[in-house]
Amino acid sequence: EPTGTEAPRPPVVTIMGHVDHGKTTLLDYIRRAKVAAGEAGGITQHIGAYKVPTDRGELTFLDTPGHEAFTAMRARGAQVTDVVILVVAADDGVMPQTEEAVKHARAAGVPIVVAVNKMDREDADPDRVKNELAAMEVIPEEWGGDTQFIDCSALNGTGVEALLEAVALQAELLELKAVVDCPGAGIVVESSLDRGRGPVATVLVQNGVLRQGDTILSGTEFGRVRALLDERGERVKSAGPSTPAVVLGLSGLPEAGDEVLVVEDEKKARELADHRREKSRDKRLQAQKA
Ligand code: GTP
Ligand code: NA
Ligand code: MG
Repeated sequence: EPTGTEAPRPPVVTIMGHVDHGKTTLLDYIRRAKVAAGEAGGITQHIGAYKVPTDRGELTFLDTPGHEAFTAMRARGAQVTDVVILVVAADDGVMPQTEEAVKHARAAGVPIVVAVNKMDREDADPDRVKNELAAMEVIPEEWGGDTQFIDCSALNGTGVEALLEAVALQAELLELKAVVDCPGAGIVVESSLDRGRGPVATVLVQNGVLRQGDTILSGTEFGRVRALLDERGERVKSAGPSTPAVVLGLSGLPEAGDEVLVVEDEKKARELADHRREKSRDKRLQAQKA
């Protein structure tokens, strides 16, 4: 854990919920309304995470809502999410993956804001959603519980502003802070190999500042940050806490959930990476023997 001077940081939000309950549509609506507005030519670069402004301050959305990604990151001990938006279609109610999402959020100790979605549908039944979630101890505020339920339609945008407000309000209660005066440290959200640019990693910076020119180590990969891109795909010189950034310059592909650390120099980075590679090779050999 890094130590040093702390400052407030924006919350990191993940959207979860059952298949077809509207996670992608909601994310798309938020992105179109909030992010695309500032984009050159309206072209969205998929970088796996982006910042959204609200009246209560910025929110960082992680575009990896899959339970698998959440589980994989948690398995690596990576805690990336501060608030979970649980999307429940009001015409369908609580379904198996809704229950799973509640369990994930609980296991991670992350508060939930419920988006009661598809309220534009004639067969929408928000009370049913409340009853079913209350049976899982996710109790609406208006019933004396501590969970905000927001009726919305990801399709036409009704209630989405209120949902973002609710999330921002929930996050305020957490009094989230990051260490600002330490070397940059974060978590890989996703990575891919780009023909022209080589290994590309989307990193959520959690503490300190990641800068162009920094030498970084992530998993068993390392390299000098050749370029940093923001959620619009534009070059930036640095990225601070709760800021997603695309990193170019790594030697290979780190995995989602891998930590990213700024280290002194390339020699140190190579040493640490070699050491990690040896350790993982030993582990593999041991597993083969067993
Ligand atoms: P998976 O990623 O497959 O789990 O689904 P998802 O949760 O991302 O749902 P998605 O956004 O793909 O939406 C599924 C279907 O529901 C699509 O046909 C959407 O257009 C529709 N849909 C999403 N939100 C709403 C809504 O608020 N109202 C209505 N009427 N339809 C919606
Ligand atoms: Na879908
Ligand atoms: Mg989807």
